[in-house]
Amino acid sequence: MISPEELTANVLASHEEVPDPRLRVIIRSLITHLHAFATEVVLTQDEWAAGIAFLTAVGHMTDDRRNEFILLSDTLGLSMLVDLVDHYSDAGETESTVLGPFWVADAPWRENGAVIARPEDGDPLHLTGRVLTTGGEPIAEAIVDVWQASAKGLYDVQDPEQTPGNLRGRFRTGADGGFDCWTVRPVPYPVPTDGPVGKMVAALGRHPWRAAHIHFRVSADGYQALTTHLFDAESEYLDSDVVFGVKEMLIRSIRRVEGVVPEELASKRFEYFEMSGDFILA
Ligand code: BEZ
Ligand code: FE
Repeated sequence: MISPEELTANVLASHEEVPDPRLRVIIRSLITHLHAFATEVVLTQDEWAAGIAFLTAVGHMTDDRRNEFILLSDTLGLSMLVDLVDHYSDAGETESTVLGPFWVADAPWRENGAVIARPEDGDPLHLTGRVLTTGGEPIAEAIVDVWQASAKGLYDVQDPEQTPGNLRGRFRTGADGGFDCWTVRPVPYPVPTDGPVGKMVAALGRHPWRAAHIHFRVSADGYQALTTHLFDAESEYLDSDVVFGVKEMLIRSIRRVEGVVPEELASKRFEYFEMSGDFILA
C-alpha cells in the first residue's frame, strides 16, 4: 500500500510542469499544505464530507450582495494575513486593515465639516484628521472615503431605515492636508451570524463582535492608497476582534469636548466626542 507521503509526492510530481510559473508555485504549495493538514489530523471521510458540505453552504449563501467566502477568510484571519504579506513595509506609513463587505464605490462627495449622520445614529462625534507624507508634509486634494455603522450596528446597505449614503462620504483634504466631518461615536457590532460562517464561529466558542471602528480609504495622486480603520480606545473586543483587524497604531482615544453640536445632528447639545487621526501615505 502506498503511504500518505508517497501519494503527496505523486500529486506534486503531476504539477511540475504547470505552464504559469506563479501558478506552479501556488498550486504546489497549496497541495503540500492541504495534504500535510489531512495527514496530520488523520482526517476521516465523514469529517471531509462535513467540510465539503460547509464550503457548499458558504457558496450558497454568497451572491453579489453578500460574500460569505470573504467572511470566512476574514474570521479565519486569512484576509489580515494576506494584507500583511502583500503590504509588508517599514516606510512609516499608516498600517492597513480589512476592507470589509460594506464599502461602496460611489459614496456621496461631501464638504469638510459636513454632517453625515442622523440624531438617532448615536452620540455626536467630530471626526478630524490629516493626510500626510512619510516626511510629515500635508497632502492636499487627497480623497478620504469614510464609512461606519450606526448605534444599531448596521451600515446603510444593511438597514432599510437608513437612506443610502448615511454614515458615509468622500472628502477632499484642504491645503493643510486636513478633513473633518460630524458623525457618531462608533460602537462594537457583530458580523453577520445568520450563515454558515456564523455557525462556525459559534462552534469554535468564539464571539462574532468587531471592536468599535470607523473605516477609511485614503488615496492621493502619486501615493499608495490606504484601506484602514480607526478604533475607539475604550471599545470592548480590541484584543479579540472577530476578524483580527486591530493594530496598535490604529487605536485612538476619543475626547469629550464642550461646544455646540450642529443642529442636524443634535438639537441643544453642548457636549460631543472628538476623534482625530492622521493618515500617512507611502
Ligand atoms: C467591517 O468592519 O465592516 C467588516 C469586516 C469584516 C467582516 C465583516 C464586517
Ligand atoms: Fe465595519
